[in-house]
Amino acid sequence: MSAFTSPIEWIERGAVRMLDQTVLPTIERYHDYTDAEGVAAAIRTMVIRGAPAIGIAAAFGLALGLRRAVEEDLRGAALRARFDELCEMLAATRPTAVNLFWAIERMRRRFEAEAARVSPSELVELLVDEATAIHREDVACNRRIGALGAPLLHGVSSVLTHCNTGALATGGYGTALGVIRRCYEEGHPIRVLANETRPFLQGARLTAWECQREGIDVRLLTDAMAGHFMARGAIGAVIVGADRVAANGDTANKIGTYTMAVLAHVHRLPFYVAAPISTIDLSLASGELIPIEERAASEVSSCFGQPIAPEGVAVCNPAFDVTPGELIAAIITERGVARPPYDESLAALVARTD
Ligand code: MRU
Repeated sequence: MSAFTSPIEWIERGAVRMLDQTVLPTIERYHDYTDAEGVAAAIRTMVIRGAPAIGIAAAFGLALGLRRAVEEDLRGAALRARFDELCEMLAATRPTAVNLFWAIERMRRRFEAEAARVSPSELVELLVDEATAIHREDVACNRRIGALGAPLLHGVSSVLTHCNTGALATGGYGTALGVIRRCYEEGHPIRVLANETRPFLQGARLTAWECQREGIDVRLLTDAMAGHFMARGAIGAVIVGADRVAANGDTANKIGTYTMAVLAHVHRLPFYVAAPISTIDLSLASGELIPIEERAASEVSSCFGQPIAPEGVAVCNPAFDVTPGELIAAIITERGVARPPYDESLAALVARTD
């Protein structure tokens, strides 16, 4: 099986291509999107998912939407008004991952910097360039996170991970899974215990698929098995990604992450978070301010279209939870490894300009 590189790709003839993550691993299907509305729907329905990947998708969505507006002959204030609408539409797709808003703001800054200087069609090309740069830089960030994080796992023979944080969730390579990938590249193979990650099954469907393709030794667990294996000494560390990290280190990530952190704490195992600087939100003092997405009840009450609960039963489906910074041993970013107290260490990393 060949190594997988990126879930998203700009196609020169003016479309963005995405690998459909709703049907993996049984079907490998790609969709080409030519407008911002299609990209917004792809983010909402999780054709593309993972914090960095949805930021990249939104950036390309804005470039596509602007192209459409220029084709409709919108100019000046009308073009700017359409661009604002496109930003709002894409920002409304998913609330928790801050990378989405970070990427939209970066695209908006480029729009503002260039709009009065170049022609509308040149502006479109500059926004395509900006989105391409966001994509390219994300892969570079991931590789750096891998290089900085791998030493933390040297000497660990089995690591637990939750959700999917690999190439599929990013521009390519991965954050937490990128750290694991780097361990292999350095000749330190490590066994991955991958939680299935109810209800969307990113661990079973996506992490297991990526690990198999990369030749990474993986064992699939149901989420409820983690404590059993920790108690038996079969897990040496936990590493996960993040959707948003508050100034004090509190970290929103896929529902179930908090449970893993509490279990790791009880079993005195290091619990690591790997995420790019674009995932850190210093505007929020603590995790209770992070908006948590609530998804459709049907994701919990049925599985692959089959009901698994009585019809009409009330369901809870928060897509993310918040792990307190006190339970996190280190936050690995492309600019360095932050340790507690996070208020100081994260602010210092974000302030660095290199
Ligand atoms: O709902 P998802 O699949 O978008 O959630 C993804 C996660 O929770 C990931 O752990 C997080 O985005 C980090 S991806 C590098």
